[in-house]
Amino acid sequence: MTEHRLDGSPRSRGTKILLVISGGIAAYKVLELIRRGRERGYSFRTILTRGGEQFVTPLSVSSLTEEKVYSELWSLTDEAEMGHIRLSREADLIVVAPASADLLAKMAHGLADDLASTALLAADKPILIAPAMNHRMWSNAATQANLALLTARGVHRVGPTEGAMACNEFGVGRMAEPEAILAAIEQLSGASHVLAGKRALVTSGPTYEKLDPVRFLGNRSSGKQGHAIARALSLLGADTVLVTGPTHEPDPPGVEIVRVESAAEMLAACQEALPADVAVCAAAVADWTPAQVATEKRKKNGGAPPPIQLVETADILATLSKPGNARPRLVVGFAAETENLIANATAKLARKGCDWIVANLVGGDTGTFGGTENEVALVTATGVETWPRATKETIATQLANRIADTLTN
Ligand code: CTP
Repeated sequence: MTEHRLDGSPRSRGTKILLVISGGIAAYKVLELIRRGRERGYSFRTILTRGGEQFVTPLSVSSLTEEKVYSELWSLTDEAEMGHIRLSREADLIVVAPASADLLAKMAHGLADDLASTALLAADKPILIAPAMNHRMWSNAATQANLALLTARGVHRVGPTEGAMACNEFGVGRMAEPEAILAAIEQLSGASHVLAGKRALVTSGPTYEKLDPVRFLGNRSSGKQGHAIARALSLLGADTVLVTGPTHEPDPPGVEIVRVESAAEMLAACQEALPADVAVCAAAVADWTPAQVATEKRKKNGGAPPPIQLVETADILATLSKPGNARPRLVVGFAAETENLIANATAKLARKGCDWIVANLVGGDTGTFGGTENEVALVTATGVETWPRATKETIATQLANRIADTLTN
């Protein structure tokens, strides 16, 4: 556990927080959050929305932060002193407290019509939200759908809790207490130092192997697991590069993205990204690629279907695992199997020469490809660990923590 000291714990000292205060009676609690956070060594820059201004004044906020409070998107002085892009670029972490239903909806749908929503849309740092609203607004399907979108994009949340509300009703919707928000901040920002100075390479998504200018051979990988791993490693402070095949996943914040299509392009991009301390190959790389790519679209012309000759692709995981100076200290592969999971994964570990294999069942009714959850086993030289079924985000966090343990010991 991290010790909290009045002059700032070693982890939290210097952490720069961009605090977005939106409209809600709970806004008064953020004054306490700022006071206690500063005691722990955090510094705060704040954006106060118009709604937030109804509950706390810029003067009380700036007295506690000892910084100017930002509120206007179209203010010449604000933009000249600190543009909305710089506000998030210069922060280590963005905290939205209280996060109103309105601001959550704007975040979920990418609206940018005031300084807070614009800075959040431009953010490339981890975001922590502390929602606060009436319990019926919280349980409304619209709010829950917005929340699901934000969670899937890697936004972190603390609260809300259940209790009596300012409107004399009772239910879930109270903003988490300042201590709970600080604990969540501590976890996110404290963690962000563990892999500082380390470089991580992650592959994700499918590859598309061209048949002709309009057709390709591909697979059902969504990229969710690989993207979540890149996000989790970056959150631990690793300088992370994500080499990804075509996916619909949003870019993880703070991660360098290299987009590729084919297995050959993915291999070249990975080699370009070296040296790295850890490589995690989560991509579903095509095993075969057409021997010839037609330069024109293949036409039916009433004849027999054209035969497709395939050749094997280069094995990226095996290539990265080859002993030598360029080999990352830790190489992690995935094994997507439809049967004999552990036996196949163990054989794969030896065949590829990597250090760990994350084995998962795919196909059938597992829902792994494209789904939000996964059930994996970690296969290493020392044995097999079965992890409980969990969201891909949770599995990514667990894996990133294990990687951090290994690289820092
Ligand atoms: N992999 C890779 N390059 C390839 C094929 C696979 O880097 N050309 C990596 C994947 O990213 C994954 C691991 O190898 O980390 C295992 O992938 P998987 O598809 O399960 O295994 P294959 O190597 O394709 O073996 P098989 O088809 O026999 O199961």
